[in-house]
Amino acid sequence: MSTPIPSPPALPILGHATYIDKVLPHKSFMDWADEYGEIYRLDILGRKTVFINSYELLNEVCNEKRFLKSLPGPIAQTRAGIFDGLFTAYSDEPNWGIAHRLLMPVFNTASIRAMFDDMLDIASQLVLKWERFGASSQLDPVEDYTNLTLDTLALTTMSYRLNSFYRGTPHPFVQAMVDFLIESGLRANRPAIVNAMMRGTTYKYEQDIKTMSDLADHIIAERKTNPIDKPDLLNAMLYGKDPKTGQRLSDESIRYNLITFMIAGHETTSATLAFATYYLIKYPAVMRKLREEIDQVLGDGTLQSSDLSKMPYCLAVLRETLRLRTPAVYRTVRALEDTTLCGGKYFVDSTTNIVSISWKVMRDPKIWGEDSEEFNPERMMDGKFEKLPPNAWQPFGYGSRGCIGRALALQEAQITLACIVQKFDLSFADPAYELNVKQSLTIKPAHMYIHAAPRADKI
Ligand code: HEM
Repeated sequence: MSTPIPSPPALPILGHATYIDKVLPHKSFMDWADEYGEIYRLDILGRKTVFINSYELLNEVCNEKRFLKSLPGPIAQTRAGIFDGLFTAYSDEPNWGIAHRLLMPVFNTASIRAMFDDMLDIASQLVLKWERFGASSQLDPVEDYTNLTLDTLALTTMSYRLNSFYRGTPHPFVQAMVDFLIESGLRANRPAIVNAMMRGTTYKYEQDIKTMSDLADHIIAERKTNPIDKPDLLNAMLYGKDPKTGQRLSDESIRYNLITFMIAGHETTSATLAFATYYLIKYPAVMRKLREEIDQVLGDGTLQSSDLSKMPYCLAVLRETLRLRTPAVYRTVRALEDTTLCGGKYFVDSTTNIVSISWKVMRDPKIWGEDSEEFNPERMMDGKFEKLPPNAWQPFGYGSRGCIGRALALQEAQITLACIVQKFDLSFADPAYELNVKQSLTIKPAHMYIHAAPRADKI
């Protein structure tokens, strides 16, 4: 006999939809987790969803023999633009298998090292901007890190320069992508008939998809006409073969994946950098220790790719940031068949989405101790990270559908942090700033402005 999964009071038909915070749904999900504990159930306009909030339950749903990735509303909606690209493909779609097998080796740490110069190039543009703006200027790190990650992705995946640091307004591709993502989220929460009636909005949505697709197609065609000898992802996709079937990716599939990398890789990495910046300002002792490490490795010199492995504390700062504040907060799976969770305690059928809330599961005191809410990079040092229980730290997801861009994101973030900490003293523009967040497909700091002054000890 299973135990009913607790659920907040709901309205007929609408279920819990009207009780979810419109601007920050995340707040509602976290509040219910505080109230109901390890598991609760919501009914959102007829969609049954179970939220899990403990390490034990997360570890259970990581079993890919029992559970597979599911696409919640807004993500499923983005298939209109990126169809069966890696992120939005269903696991049984053939193109996912081909792209996954072909690209996995290209995304490993060793291959990503070859992108070091491109990454440093863009990080140096950010440093130059902050130097030129000077100590008294109020900087928006979320915006600057977003420009950095977009430019880095365009350069490393397709050797294309968006030049975001030199533009007054976003590149048309970027504007189209941002608008496409916002509208995808809105469409998922409107009845189909309402979407159909909103002709102007639908036209703009289709134009945004066209703008993204046209640029990707142009870059693919250009590369075919003028091949270059560079280990970027576009070359890997154009000339690589699936080791299992020997098949190549179609141009259409390459287009979906180029746009996918831009979407999946920019906000996630920029929000990680923004949260890390928040913690470094909030915890001066951590900032001091990180600077000592960076000074020891770099001195006044320029970062080299071989330096990255000599900065374990920098990696620990990023890992701890991702434990507490991973920007990709929710991951959704479905059981392959009706099943129970927690040793038979809770019944879930195969049509129910099971959503893990990373900001709860990666703070489970059973794994991280009573101070699990505290930011403490020491948890990730001296072999402790390697000894964590399976699936305890998983900001990048798990199993076959885990993040393919993990090494790319970490290397980019390490380079950026090292360049910034080497040069600047950071402070909040408002010294009383307390972290609050905003939500789109990811979660990132809101209203966080900073000053970046040249290091006082170097003047
Ligand atoms: C998948 C997080 C950076 C590309 C995922 C998933 C998570 C994640 C949690 C699994 C989603 C799910 O289970 O539904 C992150 C975080 C990042 C980051 C926290 C930065 C700190 C990147 C970058 C790229 C990227 C830089 C691209 C270059 C992808 C792709 C998938 C994915 C293509 C789908 C993989 C598949 O299903 O085969 N990411 N990601 N991500 N990520 Fe990332």
